[in-house]
Amino acid sequence: MTWQTAQLMPTADRIDLGIGQPDPALLPADLFEQSCVDASVLAYGTEAGDERFRYALAHWLNQRQARPTSPEHLMITTGSSNALDMICTRFSQPGDTVLVEDPTYFIARKQLADHGLTAVAVPMDQGGVDILELAALIEQHKPAFFYTIPTFHNPTGITQSAERRAQLVSLARDTGCPVVADEVYQYLHYAEPPPDSLASLDERAPVLSIGSFAKLLAPGLRLGWIQGSSEILVPLTGSALLASGGGLAPVTSSLVRPLLEDGRFDQHLVRLTEVYRRRLATLVAGLTDHLGERIRFTVPTGGYFIWANWLNGADTEAMLPQAHQLGTGFQPGGKFSASPGQASAMRLCFAFYDEAQLTEACVRLSKL
Ligand SMILES: Cc1ncc(COP(=O)(O)O)c(C=O)c1O
Repeated sequence: MTWQTAQLMPTADRIDLGIGQPDPALLPADLFEQSCVDASVLAYGTEAGDERFRYALAHWLNQRQARPTSPEHLMITTGSSNALDMICTRFSQPGDTVLVEDPTYFIARKQLADHGLTAVAVPMDQGGVDILELAALIEQHKPAFFYTIPTFHNPTGITQSAERRAQLVSLARDTGCPVVADEVYQYLHYAEPPPDSLASLDERAPVLSIGSFAKLLAPGLRLGWIQGSSEILVPLTGSALLASGGGLAPVTSSLVRPLLEDGRFDQHLVRLTEVYRRRLATLVAGLTDHLGERIRFTVPTGGYFIWANWLNGADTEAMLPQAHQLGTGFQPGGKFSASPGQASAMRLCFAFYDEAQLTEACVRLSKL
């Protein structure tokens, strides 16, 4: 199998809604202008990551979830991708099966393949993963874990309902199948907050929630975390990688910690979500006005993406060269799934471009 995976890069002649990254104009350079490194983090640090940072992060998370967490339940990573990589290393063996949602984040598919893992897809509906199907597939495949994106899912924008989350966590507890929840969009909501992070729901269930500052502050920080019970974190904090190199991202943690502590991070997040809320509304209006009845989509209430289906069943991969000629682009559905049913979908990101560009992209898409 060949993988077309890398994050897309912008080109001057194209408004490419396939780019799933923050708008460079929204990266908060000003927050780091006065930053200086706390010299105490220059030595090898503790395996789970800088303790003062974990304390500040726990405090921040506790304002956003019903059940409190603590520094012992957090481990620092260099982002979500790094977290998934370490989880693959420590929770699976090459040849194992991992269950994923259908569709799922295309680079996660490649990460699993890099580890010699076979991904088996579980269907979703508007409430998230189908729990009965998941239970049957756990029984059938005895997977190493189930990888899910429960909040503002990439690519569909779907958020798992609170009821579905409760069912999922109890299934994990009953079967012992670990759940790895990639929650990079959990705190990017433009209406009511989503239900709480999966790892915060039940400490006794084998659940790891992955968070990242890539979409909340800046991807170049390469900073994220894993939340889980002290027990489930042991294979990760006990890895030779951390025994040799110490905890991850100590310097970056020391740059971000003051922003968490003094509220500047929260202020940034308020500004960011205001911009994204308007961009989402603009893309929805542009698609409705210019593509109308030709596509169907559900409006998400957070995250980065709209997942739109062409009602004529067209293969979006085949449409891409024409879209590029028209000066636009998207991520074709087939990248996110092996099922043929997803091939007529396209993932459109509303985070990267401003409102005028989003409207112009819809005009260009309408000429397809
Ligand atoms: C679901 C999902 N996971 C992980 C990532 C990458 O996160 P990070 O930059 O923290 O590695 C992305 C970014 O596009 C994503 O959408």
